[in-house]
Amino acid sequence: MAYNLLQGKKGIIFGALDEKSIAWKTAQRCAQEGAELVLTNAPIALRMGTINKLAEEVNAPVIPADVTSEADVENLFIKTKEHFGGGVDFVLHSIGMSINVRKNIPYTENNLDFTHKGLDISAVSLHRVLQAAMKHDAINEWGSVVALTYIAAQRVFPNYNDMADGKAMLESIARNFGYYYGVKKKVRVNTISQSPTLTTAGSGVKGIDGFINFAEKMSPLGNATADNCADYCVSLFSDFTKMVTMQNLFHDGGFSFTGVTQDVIEKMGE
Ligand SMILES: NC(=O)c1ccc[n+]([C@@H]2O[C@H](COP(=O)([O-])OP(=O)(O)OC[C@H]3O[C@@H](n4cnc5c(N)ncnc54)[C@H](O)[C@@H]3O)[C@@H](O)[C@H]2O)c1
Repeated sequence: MAYNLLQGKKGIIFGALDEKSIAWKTAQRCAQEGAELVLTNAPIALRMGTINKLAEEVNAPVIPADVTSEADVENLFIKTKEHFGGGVDFVLHSIGMSINVRKNIPYTENNLDFTHKGLDISAVSLHRVLQAAMKHDAINEWGSVVALTYIAAQRVFPNYNDMADGKAMLESIARNFGYYYGVKKKVRVNTISQSPTLTTAGSGVKGIDGFINFAEKMSPLGNATADNCADYCVSLFSDFTKMVTMQNLFHDGGFSFTGVTQDVIEKMGE
């Protein structure tokens, strides 16, 4: 069901790779709620993924940008402003990558060049995006920026590897930049801490199925799906959450505040 929550709003969606991507589902929900969109991803992802299908469906141009390139990110905001004839009202940062995870390198033996690269893509990129947006005055007053994160920023989940450090940094950047952008232009910046979800990035984490089953059993409401996450993003882009900023918002069916569930106790007693 659609409620026209984003009627008249314009936004940029980073990170739609394929139909499983959280960004893909969010773009679809934003369009259903009346938003006009620009889609973006790294040039290599545009070649490997199926973003053109989404672009057609939501009637949005695709502007390539590798988030590790300042020039690409600036060009994205310049082109987006030209396209809309002004700034945007919301931005979704749905980007994560760890070469150490991809290559199965244990945390204690990480290749630190890979770590740098992963932190740049997964965390510093949020700073780069916000800095470029501010420089080009590309986000309108009361605009909303959301980045996706995971609870490994606060607690240890061994196989999450160096992505955990990336998420801790991402949440810190959201908080800090959220302060400055709030003061300067009433732009809000938040992170959504999502349940484990079966996507291309999610599947890279060793033992993801075990992760997902464990989280499901440890959450009173069960795991939040990518579709649930898309709905939550819409609410954060809408005018109903205008005073929410600098927060890390758990979207995990209650996992983050559950010590143990009866289900897990019974499983452990078997
Ligand atoms: N899947 C999960 O279990 C889960 C849980 C919590 C948070 N998240 C976060 O959600 C976000 C989206 O991930 P997803 O699960 O939808 O997976 P996904 O693989 O569909 O999305 C990751 C995206 O990052 C993009 N990307 C990688 N390098 C890039 C670069 N240099 N420039 C621009 N884009 C780049 C990829 O092309 C891809 O579109 C990530 O931040 C991820 O960490 C995922």
